[in-house]
Amino acid sequence: MSHSFWYTDEDYVRRIRDILGDIDLDPASSAEANRNILASTIFTEDNSCLERDWPKVQTAFMNPPYSSDCGTSKPFVKKWLIEFHRKRFQNGIVLVNASPASSWFQMLLRNCSLVCFPDSRIAFDEDVEALWNSRYKDVEDPERGLTAREQADYYRVQALLREGETVKTGTSPRYDNAIFLFSHDTPAASPVRERFDSILGQFGTILKRT
Ligand SMILES: C[S@@+](CC[C@H](N)C(=O)[O-])C[C@H]1O[C@@H](n2cnc3c(N)ncnc32)[C@H](O)[C@@H]1O
Repeated sequence: MSHSFWYTDEDYVRRIRDILGDIDLDPASSAEANRNILASTIFTEDNSCLERDWPKVQTAFMNPPYSSDCGTSKPFVKKWLIEFHRKRFQNGIVLVNASPASSWFQMLLRNCSLVCFPDSRIAFDEDVEALWNSRYKDVEDPERGLTAREQADYYRVQALLREGETVKTGTSPRYDNAIFLFSHDTPAASPVRERFDSILGQFGTILKRT
């Protein structure tokens, strides 16, 4: 089922930190998600990044929501581009589903410095507790009012929670991925571009804007 509680797995978080250094800002996050990202500043559903100016920082990382339960990627991508062009961050990385026919994906392609298309799907950590609270907590009778797919998902999530598993690691949603670099550094002398190229180049093809 499509939902927004997929957290970046620790291998990719380490690679992103190896490229950017410490992550100063994660604009699409939660307290649980930030146990892994360790950004100094986060915005959350309760403190929406869409409704306020972002602080001026050095580095930002965003893996935006991508389903209707707490927002599709488009407004988050638009806001990311506004804040980037206002120079609220010097270097930033965006991790999204690869969705070339979407207008927001085209916006990322047109504005980025580099993009990596990983050669295998990223395995995310699924926050089943957040999913339950957002979607199923108030369902009185799953046999009524839920589609067959939703019912299957309801029982899957319920079983995981009964086993005490609140965040299920290593799950791949059914989407390919793309990872974008946004940088205000001069292209000719940019260690962050070089690191993006050499580190993520081991996991997929890197395309550069000319
Ligand atoms: C795909 S998850 C990514 C979490 C984390 N950044 C990571 O990469 O592991 C998207 C997160 O954005 C949060 N979110 C939803 N709406 C938001 C908003 N308006 N402002 C900030 N965060 C929001 C969700 O609660 C969820 O934790």
